[in-house]
Amino acid sequence: MVTPAHVQSMPDSNPSTVIQLEGVTRRFWPGPVTAVDDVSLEVRKGEIMTLLGPSGCGKTTTLRLIAGFEVPDEGSIRIGDTEVAGAKAWAPPERRGVGMVFQDYALFPHLTVGENVMFGLDRTPRRQRAGRAREVLKILDLEAFFHRYPHELSGGQQQRVALARALAPDPLLLLMDEPFSNLDAHLRDQVRDEVVGILRNAGVTCILVSHDQRDALAISDRVAVMNRGKVEQVGSPREIYKHPESVFVATFVGRTNLLQGRVQNEDGCVLTDFGSFCRVDRLGMPNGSQVVVSVRPDGFETCAEGALCGSILSTTYTGAQIEAEVEFPSALGGTRKLVVHLPPSRHYEVGESISFRLVPEFASVVRNACQTLGFTSPVVEPPQASGRDGSRPGSDPGPALEVDETPPGVVSASPAGALARELEG
Ligand SMILES: Nc1ncnc2c1ncn2[C@@H]1O[C@H](COP(=O)(O)OP(=O)(O)OP(=O)(O)O)[C@@H](O)[C@H]1O
Ligand SMILES: [Mg+2]
Repeated sequence: MVTPAHVQSMPDSNPSTVIQLEGVTRRFWPGPVTAVDDVSLEVRKGEIMTLLGPSGCGKTTTLRLIAGFEVPDEGSIRIGDTEVAGAKAWAPPERRGVGMVFQDYALFPHLTVGENVMFGLDRTPRRQRAGRAREVLKILDLEAFFHRYPHELSGGQQQRVALARALAPDPLLLLMDEPFSNLDAHLRDQVRDEVVGILRNAGVTCILVSHDQRDALAISDRVAVMNRGKVEQVGSPREIYKHPESVFVATFVGRTNLLQGRVQNEDGCVLTDFGSFCRVDRLGMPNGSQVVVSVRPDGFETCAEGALCGSILSTTYTGAQIEAEVEFPSALGGTRKLVVHLPPSRHYEVGESISFRLVPEFASVVRNACQTLGFTSPVVEPPQASGRDGSRPGSDPGPALEVDETPPGVVSASPAGALARELEG
């Protein structure tokens, strides 16, 4: 990559970091609309990171800032050891060594496949362009289409041509905006797996944009979940799914049950209306803290001797599993509807009673959830004399969970004060 004189060299950066955003903000006027709000991110060499979030959360704007099509109002962007955008630095898109695959592929309809790919090679000596284009097209199994026009290709083939065009100049970083959204469901998984295989073989560092959590979890080394211009959480797909750190992440990435609970003891047990989840990860909160636990549908495992018994309200067959709404009696009276995953090996009748055991790995305390859901957070009471089981915290219920509006994706939240009465009992 050529470094213009006015671009700041940053010799102190980590050599494995390909791109680093620090406090990047982009506002649009009138408004202002803060499309990207104080975003800090780091992507390492060879990593595939997905920016995941709902429409309008700032994913495309983040990519455009990295590519150099937008100028940040605040913050800095570093690619390799070079600051390409910041208070005193600016490198135009063609100097950043970044390849971009646009959502609509943006192939030139009047150019053949070969010409489209060669178009991206304007910095390569003219006589070497055709050879390089053929080389990349071969990797993508498109060599035979060199002389075809885009309209003579399927959607998946066009997708791969767009990828070939972006890969041909051997970019330091590849950006892909919703690369699979134009493909039908059947082709989508196949093209996605092919493309990811190619990226991994080539060791390309890549930032992908998606609003599809399935894609994000399937292909990424790490996922950055965005909401309203901010990055809410960055982590491996497993971390994001199992340990969501906000109500937004818990509910946007898959379905979940949000249960109000109270920390019982040092072993990380959390008591909810439906029993005690022990060894809940990432607890780090004192006894008596009022918390919200996200329990994924996989957190309920069918088991003949299970302590928790519920009645099936509805079932949806998804192939790999059955997603069921199950009505459970709350320990405090009344019933609650939770979503659970059932093994698909048998048929379930509506109204059927099923026993479950709780699987702690799928339960995680959601940090900051108390504030989001509207109770003072977290309530910590002075330690009190333990009960016989050594696990009973203080009896004051603390503020009740009041959910004015159930966030999307939330299956259930504990009823006000219910937990406290159980603790008293
Ligand atoms: N050029 C612009 N002028 C004004 N507002 C803009 C501009 N570009 C983006 N926005 C606004 O910034 C916000 C973020 O837009 P962005 O395109 O980054 O979202 P996105 O996450 O990519 O959404 P989608 O999934 O729908 O593509 C939106 O509210 C959008 O309307
Ligand atoms: Mg977009």
